[in-house]
Amino acid sequence: MKDLNLPPHATALELGSGTGHVTLDLIETAGATRAHGIEASPLLVAKATEAFSPNPHLSFEVGDARKTGLESQSCDLILLHSVLCHVHDFQNVVREAHRLLKPGGVLAICDGEFDNMSAPISDYDLLDQLILRILTSNVTNLWVMRQLPEVLTETGFKLGHQTLHKPVSEHDANFFLTIIEAGADQFVAQGRLLRETAIAIKAEARVRALAHCLFCNISYISQIGHKPRSD
Ligand SMILES: C[S@@+](CC[C@H](N)C(=O)[O-])C[C@H]1O[C@@H](n2cnc3c(N)ncnc32)[C@H](O)[C@@H]1O
Repeated sequence: MKDLNLPPHATALELGSGTGHVTLDLIETAGATRAHGIEASPLLVAKATEAFSPNPHLSFEVGDARKTGLESQSCDLILLHSVLCHVHDFQNVVREAHRLLKPGGVLAICDGEFDNMSAPISDYDLLDQLILRILTSNVTNLWVMRQLPEVLTETGFKLGHQTLHKPVSEHDANFFLTIIEAGADQFVAQGRLLRETAIAIKAEARVRALAHCLFCNISYISQIGHKPRSD
């Protein structure tokens, strides 16, 4: 987000802004003058508003990234960070971003390559199967960053830089431990696992983490799209 060359007094928008921490980066890193977040969860909008209310240049509102109701051609920069992988019809988010951007505006997208996340220590590893199951029940599209360039072009964007970031590694396996523990509880609540099985799975995960064989690599990819000036 450092090299986007935004115009002076740029207005930025994050769609799917969550807790708002990345929305702040639109000002602090990308150099926008003001930033607004649209987020589906009222709880997260309340948290973001509370956390950042002293900043008069940041604001948040509940809304749908596919149909924001905001004014057309009102933004210089739109960010989609870790959101497209959660939206079934992500093409509609890209179309909405195109409508909202001014001609010459920039769309910045970053998402994980969740298909690469695995933790087996043998064939048909039980813990690995569980991680995959939890992942696919929370991430809608594991391949969104590969599908995106074609959708951007079809929508009218000119493709900018695509960056394959260095994998984010968690040697202490915190991320996997979190999804295994939360996922096992979720499965118990849904009646898909016995409580005793969930306890055993969590114990297995903690033992593997202590033995340094449960590490997690997540690859992230970012893609820039430019809305042509002559649009
Ligand atoms: C993984 S979080 C990322 C939050 C934030 N972008 C960040 O990077 O910290 C994905 C967020 O997208 C939101 N979201 C998912 N679908 C949405 C939609 N259709 N409209 C608005 N927000 C959505 C979720 O509620 C969640 O807060």
